[in-house]
Amino acid sequence: MIKLRKNIEEMAGYVPGFQPPDAETYIKLNTNENPYPPSPRVLEAIAKEVGEGLRRYPDAASRLAREEAGRVYGFDPSWIVLANGSDEVLNNLIRAFANEGEEIACVHPSYSYYGTLAEIQGARMRYFGLSPEFEIVGLPEKYDCRLFFLTNPNAPLGFTYSRSFIEELAGRITGVLVVDEAYVDFAEENSLDLVRTLDNVVVTRTFSKSYSLAGMRLGLAIARPEVIAALNKIRDHYNVDRLAHVAATAALSDQEYLKGCVAKIKETRAWFTEELVKAGYHVIPSSGNFVFASPPDGDGARLYQGLYDRKILVRHFSDPVLKHGMRITIGTREEMERTVRAMTELAAP
Ligand SMILES: Cc1ncc(COP(=O)(O)O)c(C=O)c1O
Repeated sequence: MIKLRKNIEEMAGYVPGFQPPDAETYIKLNTNENPYPPSPRVLEAIAKEVGEGLRRYPDAASRLAREEAGRVYGFDPSWIVLANGSDEVLNNLIRAFANEGEEIACVHPSYSYYGTLAEIQGARMRYFGLSPEFEIVGLPEKYDCRLFFLTNPNAPLGFTYSRSFIEELAGRITGVLVVDEAYVDFAEENSLDLVRTLDNVVVTRTFSKSYSLAGMRLGLAIARPEVIAALNKIRDHYNVDRLAHVAATAALSDQEYLKGCVAKIKETRAWFTEELVKAGYHVIPSSGNFVFASPPDGDGARLYQGLYDRKILVRHFSDPVLKHGMRITIGTREEMERTVRAMTELAAP
């Protein structure tokens, strides 16, 4: 009789956002994808790479992409590791730093996948709640943990922690502070310089949101070379395939294009937020490519269903602290105009 590890047997597994088979028939605002295509340079680079060369393994060190990332972020490539989505690097950080039974922590609500990864490893996850002002509740002055995952900007709520708070948090914990900056390109501040000045800070980034490359599965981590060396020991040696590698390099090289997309999304986010507030919604000011909005009657599930019936797909979480609202990705202006019309209708008494 085969026998699973106990923690695997007992865990439910992560449920990703719904990807409908007929996605093009919806306004799809449920997984924080970018409504704009990737940079034309990315498409050219991939097209060029498609060919007989695919019979060869990719560069196990993802050297060109790391060099380009180094130029963009101002770090030596020895401080950077590329990943098959930032999920991979989050997973490897747990494998590198937390033994079975050891404590890791995150904020609730934030990215629920940290909890799944902890379960796989058999590590203990401690969740810290948030006050109405989004302060972390119950954090000890000196906190002994192996890892602390801080999603900044927070997802699904969209608020940010200040740089000074992040610095203070890094000093309060004994382990590694992972600042998950999946959405930081849509925010005003990032924590990259803390990686240089504090030896327990790691920053993770994804290409899935601001770079419009969710389908490519690309992410990276920036950390001290000794942490990067550990992550290199753990990862699949060919974790970034040939197409992903040239896509990452080209995407990073086109910062102008990135800025243009981000500016459009931020402008639409501001407009959409204002319109929802006018329609009676409570909307948390967001620094991501999404907003968390609650209808006047506090029934997020009803709103989700109403939008779904109108072929608008958003994300509703059944979690008690989130079920009053929905997370809505910022799409194109036209998509958001249609969404505002539907949400105004649905909020009317
Ligand atoms: C906060 C946060 N971190 C990480 C990820 C994973 O990103 P990736 O697509 O790079 O694996 C997501 C994806 O939604 C996210 O919301």
